[in-house]
Amino acid sequence: MTVHTEIKAGPDLSRLRRFVADLADVVDQGDDEAAILKAGEVLLTRLIATDDWLPDDYARPNPERYQQYLLHCDSRERFSVVSFVWGPGQATPIHDHTVWGLVGVLRGAERVESYRRTTTGFELTREPDVLHAGEVDAVSPTVGDIHRVSNGCDGVSVSIHVYGANIGAVRRATYAPDGTPKPFISGYANSTLPNLWDRSR
Ligand SMILES: [Fe+2]
Repeated sequence: MTVHTEIKAGPDLSRLRRFVADLADVVDQGDDEAAILKAGEVLLTRLIATDDWLPDDYARPNPERYQQYLLHCDSRERFSVVSFVWGPGQATPIHDHTVWGLVGVLRGAERVESYRRTTTGFELTREPDVLHAGEVDAVSPTVGDIHRVSNGCDGVSVSIHVYGANIGAVRRATYAPDGTPKPFISGYANSTLPNLWDRSR
């Protein structure tokens, strides 16, 4: 008797594979942050224009807190791609990144409050934005690096973030409302990654 093991096929990851290959081409050109953000925004906008590729395991909310799933890390840790999953009402503390980053909403909406530090705490650098599916925002020490992000819709929200480092391993900070920094290394919620490299299907 032959026993066939059924392996769940999952979604087609070729969009994500193409994105990481194209982003590697961009960072191969050099470390000009403005150029990377400009080219990266075009690539991320294209990636999030179609919501048919993110496997369910990397879009799963947790009732306790927002989730940060690593989807891919460049072999030289020049960039990482992460899915953030927000249940209703979930939010980050105020935090920084220390490297360039792009935030693109795939599903739902994300509310972004951008801050600068003052002697007594923080002030908003612009009116809070609500990014909807298909929209992209940028952060970096040059363009503004401190923000607080929260779910901007009633259901589950999913966004795809790209950073100029292995972001889960970067030493950075969260901040109390009075501006007191607290060191923080985010890590990731997942221990396995989507398989971008099986080209047999
Ligand atoms: Fe952030």
